[in-house]
Amino acid sequence: MKTRILFVDDDPNVLSALRRMFHDMRESWDMAFATDGPAGLAMIAEQPFDVVVADMRMPGMDGAMFLREAQLANPGAIRIVLSGHSDRDMILQTVRPAHQFLPKPCQPAALKAVIARGLSLREVFLDERVKNVVARLDRLPTVPRLYAALLDALSRDEPSMREVSGLIAQDVGMSAGILKLVNSAFFGLRTHVASPAHAVNLLGLEIVKALVLGVGLFDRFDKEAFRDFDLEKLWGHSFGTGRMARAIAELEGASAEAREHGYIAGLLHDVGKLVMATNFPEAYREVIAACQDGQGTILDMERQVFGASHAEVGAYLLGLWGVEDPVVRAVYLHHEPGRDRRAGFSPLLAVHVANRLEHELVVIHRGYAINPLDELYLAASGLSGRLPAWREACAAALAGGPAAGDG
Ligand SMILES: [Fe+2]
Ligand SMILES: [Fe+2]
Repeated sequence: MKTRILFVDDDPNVLSALRRMFHDMRESWDMAFATDGPAGLAMIAEQPFDVVVADMRMPGMDGAMFLREAQLANPGAIRIVLSGHSDRDMILQTVRPAHQFLPKPCQPAALKAVIARGLSLREVFLDERVKNVVARLDRLPTVPRLYAALLDALSRDEPSMREVSGLIAQDVGMSAGILKLVNSAFFGLRTHVASPAHAVNLLGLEIVKALVLGVGLFDRFDKEAFRDFDLEKLWGHSFGTGRMARAIAELEGASAEAREHGYIAGLLHDVGKLVMATNFPEAYREVIAACQDGQGTILDMERQVFGASHAEVGAYLLGLWGVEDPVVRAVYLHHEPGRDRRAGFSPLLAVHVANRLEHELVVIHRGYAINPLDELYLAASGLSGRLPAWREACAAALAGGPAAGDG
């Protein structure tokens, strides 16, 4: 089936340029063009699209307004904004409703790459409902304690960059949100950044403040609404896995980039659980109860109930948000690393091992089936003899507590 793409731009010349530019894609793309937001929405109402690309600056309904409407009317679509970097306030308005931001004039290769990446992970989902929820999301819940500390830090006369970036780098939802911005050409940052702390430094405190206080980029987790879901526990496991994956990477002499990828992938590896538990609380309660009953691993139960596991859900969200490939891959395969055939060290290897060791070193539910280490995969990597050294380094990383320099 062809990929349905809607382009919305008030300038007919831009639309004809796009039409020409992507003429060679007509075998695989079904393209529609609208000269304003309302016309685009009318087309969506007729038949939803896979991808929606909008100009930011349009008279009447601007790109941000249009994308917010599209988010509701066509939740499953990948939403892309095309714009110059001139107007910071306007960019801020599109930060939540858009998955990706591309500079104008549009580079065909860049747009094709963003679309291909967004579509690539969609195929693994059987359930349309889950797919739509993931694509509709524009922010994630954050640990209330960290969120309150962040608000407090930002409210000071002279906020500390170190404190702010340290808090953001510890939280799953905040880190994912910040990485979405820096990896998506929002604000015109040219470098690809793996670390949330680095990202906060690049954005600067003023923008971070506007994002948190003005745009509402982070959502405070509502404990009352999700009584059975313990975000603190998931946070502890995620943060621990991140630090342990980084410790393993360090021990293997991995590059600074690979160490950061290990940390981020470890921190975000279970983000899919957060998405599922907060968007489908009833069904996720069923999953947890079945695991506690010993009916199977969390992965088995999620696939039974949702048709997809938290690994796929998390990877799809992070892929849409433009997080780097090694991180998305590690999240996607953290329970099934054997589907990756690369030998030697990789962030995936670090996360797979760290996830297991974190469960081993920090026991929360006895009798809960722990996901096993993939011995064949470890043997194929040629590094299985390193396990005792990794275990020791991971125990030390955990014992250190939330150390300075985290992020
Ligand atoms: Fe997991
Ligand atoms: Fe995990």
